[in-house]
Amino acid sequence: MTLPKPRKIQFERYTEGLSQFKKINNPIKLSANESALGPSPRAIEALEREKNKIFKYPESDSSSLRDVISKKFNIDSERIICGAGSDQIFDLICQLFIEPGDEVVITEYGFIMYRIYASLYRAKVLLAKEKNFKASIDEIINKVTDKTKIVFIANPNNPTGTYLSKNEMFNLRQRLRSDILLVVDDAYFEFLDKDDFTSGLDLFKDEANVLITRTFSKIYGLAGLRLGWGYSSKEIIDTMYQIKPPFNVNRAALCSGIEALKDKEWIKKAIEHNTLWSKKIFSVLKEYKIQTNEPTANFFLMNFNETKINSDEVFEKLVNDRLLLRKMKQYKVPNTLRLTIGDKESNELFVESIRSIFK
Ligand SMILES: Cc1ncc(COP(=O)(O)O)c(C=O)c1O
Repeated sequence: MTLPKPRKIQFERYTEGLSQFKKINNPIKLSANESALGPSPRAIEALEREKNKIFKYPESDSSSLRDVISKKFNIDSERIICGAGSDQIFDLICQLFIEPGDEVVITEYGFIMYRIYASLYRAKVLLAKEKNFKASIDEIINKVTDKTKIVFIANPNNPTGTYLSKNEMFNLRQRLRSDILLVVDDAYFEFLDKDDFTSGLDLFKDEANVLITRTFSKIYGLAGLRLGWGYSSKEIIDTMYQIKPPFNVNRAALCSGIEALKDKEWIKKAIEHNTLWSKKIFSVLKEYKIQTNEPTANFFLMNFNETKINSDEVFEKLVNDRLLLRKMKQYKVPNTLRLTIGDKESNELFVESIRSIFK
């Protein structure tokens, strides 16, 4: 009997942090760059109120949430599209732009989902070398050919934690052909407060050939509800609506996303927590010669080349203290682990554990 055959999927799968280690009882998960403090209490209250309505479909175009986003960031609600995570925005944009044989340029250690979606739609993915774990505009431009459709960049980038300055980002857009879509992923921008840095949205909201993405999974603490959005020209967004699954953002995500955006106090608290702990942890890592990125986001990419113990051994020792970090095998960054900044107790335990490992 001949059975139905799905197409052969030859590219890598996303491996989540927890799947790398199932043995720990009650692990403290510092492997997915989730929020340290969780969501705003206002978001939880909204969820509670919404529960009686879950037998009704949600809005199909997330219009109530788009209105709040539009007011908060002073942008056109008609040019916003919401998705089940910013993941879905990457999916839609690749689906829309890529024809088999087209090329997509991603930085060497760029966020993994870009290449997964680009490959799904049969693009050829070209990786632009980085310099000292930072995206290089020259290398990106070197990879561009007549077939290039999209360039993806997260700023700051996960997992490297490095960023491109405002001038470098402008320079990148200027040097790319105008018919190449530049996707700027602002997932961690709230954590980064440097004079030479500006978010993708602030830099490019008036450009017709840039798509900016934002997520509710990081500073807003709603990773489990899957919510993100994209902003681009009316033409691009309109076409994305044509292929968007109906009701792609559920009621729980919509109502809590709205409240999370409005709770400025909670956002401030989350940023202050992150700033405080990223400084503390950064100085502890320095003490033990663990090389890492400057604090730019809610995580550190730690390199163990200058320590006596390698990343795999450190991983196992941290696991003994129930601390689960992210191995970087999938990103092919040798001898490194990624640490997410957690709540006070988890961070204290991490620091204590590092001190005892390297004493
Ligand atoms: C750079 C970057 N973009 C996007 C995401 C995913 O966001 P979402 O949860 O909205 O799909 C992540 C999550 O780790 C990320 O690191």
